[in-house]
Amino acid sequence: MSEDPQRWFRICDLDAIAEQEAAEFVVEGLIVAVFREQEQWYALDAMCAHQGGPIAKGTVANGCVTCPWHGWQYELATGRQTIHNQKLLETYPLKEQDGGLWIQLPDAPSP
Ligand code: FES
Repeated sequence: MSEDPQRWFRICDLDAIAEQEAAEFVVEGLIVAVFREQEQWYALDAMCAHQGGPIAKGTVANGCVTCPWHGWQYELATGRQTIHNQKLLETYPLKEQDGGLWIQLPDAPSP
């Protein structure tokens, strides 16, 4: 995994995730779910805010993912849980570069 000073990390090749699919990655100890829908990329915390279900294994449709465990639904772009309209999952910037997909993480906590 590559890193640059602005905390961009290369996580996979661009063809590693098919349309309407998702995958989990561990980046700097953070587990993120990366989705590809309608030619857009989205990255969110990978564990559902309800009971930790794996949202990367959820159903993706209309800009949302539905958790496979009990059906909580989140907007991919915002991390908002749709029933309570609250942001419950963090989202992360992604970019395409050099044939790969990169994620930007916030600054590491100070020691
Ligand atoms: S763990 Fe996701 S809805 Fe319950």
